[in-house]
Amino acid sequence: MRALFSKPLISYVIGILLVITTTGFVLSQVIENFFILIAVLLIEFIIFLLFLLHFYDKYMKPIKKATKTVDEIVKGNYRARFHHPVNDTIGQLSKRINALARNLSELSIQEQMQSEQLSTVIDNTESGLILIDSKGYIHLVNRKIIDMFGGTPKDYRGYLYYDVLENEVIHEAVQKAFLYEKNIKYAFTNYKNKDKFYLEIVGAPIFNERNMLKGAVLVIYDITEMKKLELMRKDFVANVSHELKTPITSIKGFAETLMETPLTDGGTHNEFLSIIYNESHRLQLLIEDLLILSKLEKEDFKLDLEEIDAEQLMEDISPLIKHQAQEKGIHLALNIQEVNTFEADKERVKQVIINLLDNAFNYTPKGGNVSLSIGSKEEQFYIQVKDTGIGIEQEALPRIFERFYRVDKARSRNTGGTGLGLAIVKHIVEVHHGDIKIESEQDTGTTITVFLPQDNPL
Ligand SMILES: Nc1ncnc2c1ncn2[C@@H]1O[C@H](COP(=O)(O)OP(=O)(O)O)[C@@H](O)[C@H]1O
Ligand SMILES: [Mg+2]
Repeated sequence: MRALFSKPLISYVIGILLVITTTGFVLSQVIENFFILIAVLLIEFIIFLLFLLHFYDKYMKPIKKATKTVDEIVKGNYRARFHHPVNDTIGQLSKRINALARNLSELSIQEQMQSEQLSTVIDNTESGLILIDSKGYIHLVNRKIIDMFGGTPKDYRGYLYYDVLENEVIHEAVQKAFLYEKNIKYAFTNYKNKDKFYLEIVGAPIFNERNMLKGAVLVIYDITEMKKLELMRKDFVANVSHELKTPITSIKGFAETLMETPLTDGGTHNEFLSIIYNESHRLQLLIEDLLILSKLEKEDFKLDLEEIDAEQLMEDISPLIKHQAQEKGIHLALNIQEVNTFEADKERVKQVIINLLDNAFNYTPKGGNVSLSIGSKEEQFYIQVKDTGIGIEQEALPRIFERFYRVDKARSRNTGGTGLGLAIVKHIVEVHHGDIKIESEQDTGTTITVFLPQDNPL
């Protein structure tokens, strides 16, 4: 009964009462008996009331429920549903509302997924991204920008770009992108914790559907690695030219003197010729080493892997190295420990051993000891060359694998060193996915151990 007096229904009840009063007034002209009149009006009232209750239950209540459900959906609660058991018009309406809610829910999940994917992509790109609107306010910065310039996203979002980004080059990129409405590219350097970074910025204007400037995207690339490689390459070219220049100048000088020296002076002739021979030999060694390095660095370089027998390898190289040791007056010990075979590129492994022994012989005074051990330890095959030579100072240790780095330039040259031996060793070990360990003490000796995976995963 309470439902009858709820707001919309009370007006219907008042309406019914008005109709009854009117019929009562009309009927009172015809029916004289007051009780019969009251009874008729009462029956009329009850019939109207029953109609009204039926009408309320069948239409008004479900529509109210439907309105509530739609309100929930409008608020964003896509899980709201409206159930109506009868398959009439309201039943159809309930089905449509539920379908709408389901669709919206799917759409919102999709949208959420897409926006999550987009923000994951933006956050994980290797380049820094900044989105600026046409007034210069920053709307978005990704993680890389935070890495490059520090702070948190909150320190950037909602601020004017020139208030939070200090670099003048960035300001210029934005201004030019806005002014010329085309992509602008600049390079600049940035310091973070005293480290120098080389960066490149591309400012790209963005337009709306009516081709009006909406803002700009700034993409900042970290080109430090590339710059370092470029510098290394430049250094390398300079070094190579320098290394080539010395023997060539000397060859040319001695040849010129030779031409001016009368043939009768046989002693000078022979002396100069042998100098020319030695210098050209040095040139040959240098060019050979350079060729080895460039071959190793080629992109399509492939190791020629094979099963190598340790004993056989030792036998192959021992005549050469024994001869070298004898010539230099050095005691050479060869050991093979717990290894039968291993997988590697045989010629390259020989090169590693020869380069390491070369150094051991060259930097160990006469009468010293050098040992070469081949063995295996924890699934790794190792080559160890140990000498009792001049050793290497601790500060120089990290640099000896660099191309052309020599602790003592004159000594290296005198022994026919090119400064590339260890760079080649390092390269060969790297392409085998191996490792190098070095221990050295000045005036005591040096031990270099090369580890290679026994079953190469390549
Ligand atoms: N066994 C060693 N004992 C002392 N110094 C060494 C030894 N091996 C390498 N070095 C130092 O490392 C430098 C680089 O070696 P390497 O690349 O083979 O060039 P190099 O042609 O000069 O031998 C050498 O010039 C030398 O100063
Ligand atoms: Mg060497």
